[in-house]
Amino acid sequence: MGVHFECPKFPIGLLVLCLFASLIIAPSVEARIRTYNWEAKYEYKSPDCYKKLIITINGKSPGPSILARQGDTIIVNLKNSLLMENVAIHWHGIRQIGTPWSDGTEGVTQCPILPGETFTYKFDVDRPGTYLYHAHYSMQRDAGLYGSIRVSPNNGSAEPFTYDYDRSIILNDWYHKSAYEQATGLSSQNFEWVGEPESLLIQGKGRFNCSPSNADVCNSTNPECSPYVLTVVSGKTYRLRIASLTSLSALNFEIEGHNMTVVEADGHYVEPFVIKNLNIYSGETYSVLVRADQDPSRNYWAAINVITRKPETPTGLAIFNYYPNHPRKLPPTTSVPAGPLWNDTDYRLEQSRAIKAHHDYNDRPPPTTDRMIIFLNTQNTIDGYRRWSVNNVSFFFPHTPYLIALKENLTHVFDQTPPPTGYNFTNYDIYSVPENHNATNSSSIYRLQFNSTVDIILQNTNMMNRDSSDTHPWHLHGHDFWVLGYGKGKFDPFKDPKNYNLVDPIMKNTVPVHRYGWTALRFKADNPGVWAFHCHIESHFHMGMGVVFEEGVEKVGELPQSIMGCGEIKGFHRP
Ligand code: C2O
Ligand code: CU
Repeated sequence: MGVHFECPKFPIGLLVLCLFASLIIAPSVEARIRTYNWEAKYEYKSPDCYKKLIITINGKSPGPSILARQGDTIIVNLKNSLLMENVAIHWHGIRQIGTPWSDGTEGVTQCPILPGETFTYKFDVDRPGTYLYHAHYSMQRDAGLYGSIRVSPNNGSAEPFTYDYDRSIILNDWYHKSAYEQATGLSSQNFEWVGEPESLLIQGKGRFNCSPSNADVCNSTNPECSPYVLTVVSGKTYRLRIASLTSLSALNFEIEGHNMTVVEADGHYVEPFVIKNLNIYSGETYSVLVRADQDPSRNYWAAINVITRKPETPTGLAIFNYYPNHPRKLPPTTSVPAGPLWNDTDYRLEQSRAIKAHHDYNDRPPPTTDRMIIFLNTQNTIDGYRRWSVNNVSFFFPHTPYLIALKENLTHVFDQTPPPTGYNFTNYDIYSVPENHNATNSSSIYRLQFNSTVDIILQNTNMMNRDSSDTHPWHLHGHDFWVLGYGKGKFDPFKDPKNYNLVDPIMKNTVPVHRYGWTALRFKADNPGVWAFHCHIESHFHMGMGVVFEEGVEKVGELPQSIMGCGEIKGFHRP
């Protein structure tokens, strides 16, 4: 509810003035309902010059942006016109307080939306900040269904920084193979890995080297793949909302010759710090301030490079264009920005640690925890299939979404035994190839005591190949968490908590666990519902790298019928 604006019984002249004033003031004060009508469908597009079937929303990928004000209600009527494929959309970073059924996580909070159906998502955006949306049905995100959500603060609550212009930029990596081909390879006994992405996209545009050029399949003169242009006016300050929705790659973003000041991370204000380039992991969002303070007679590159894995994908490029130079005029630089060394883990760790809560917006964590769960991240094989596991359990979705199963007491539809915690942790050697490759597949979940404080320790390990450890960006639905610390090597449950940052930890919804390292998080289990927590690398989640938390499900209101219609839900009525 917003502030109510009323005009008392004024004389007519004043009354007109007052009504007029209310027209101007009311829309910015009252919480508004913003309704979007979207249609998802497959179309041929060439985001990196290579023609591919991709999923668009209202003809676009990235889809339309949601621009809202804190406290608004968002309604998205989503029509599934994919003809032969289900869909679901997750609102990444929106906590869905009171509306857990609108989280859009197929298998956890809803049944998939069938072809031809229209499903309505309705939720409040309760915090200002930079968020995302994307498909959350199998590996569908890879097909291009994604976009940005920008929530501005309530009138009157100023932000701790100023700028002249605001721009949202989503970074992505891009494969030419379809999500089907990729998923099939991952779920075969003859494991087939798609490899590194063909190109990198900045706001949906990239450039694949089409040689030999084939006008039908790969055409470098196609305007769809002309580089994204960010036009700036000399002397002005730009807030760039940089978000990553990569399938696999961790990225480093930089603008040639310009510094950036980090001011926001995942919807939380950061104690400002200056960087030359930004490491960003899939599922993260940052706001950086950039002042157009360089020689305005030329253009500059904005570039993204792959980090954490040996890059085999060319640098992604956009043009940082100083007005009035021609937006297509290429920067005079002979080489494009190469980014930091891809394997410099210390550099990335240092930048992760530099992200602290802004001193005026510091919502401190509870000083102690009620429960600590260590999540040992391992790569495994199960019955000849390559999998990822947490504490030796590789996750798979049941056919009946958890939220429905728990509310309707359908206890037979998923594994009821609680997952083991801290499997083999004390003796586990995180630096060597796992001796025991075997893990188990399970659909079991973690049930958290409502309102309790929970610590999660993400522990990275060596993969099944020698001397390899991937970086995993973990994303939590339904909450923001405090990032209490990052460490190298194996977490010590007795010593390491003594060095937690309890003074000014940043709150986030996505956080990396670095190579051979650990990351410690704390959150309050205070949002009734069922929430996924998983690695945001699309293939890793597909291969079981995730868990599900339940908290206060008995407090969840009546579920809408529209989320039902799959698995073992008896007596549902499709509206
Ligand atoms: Cu952005 Cu469960 O994901
Ligand atoms: Cu991962």
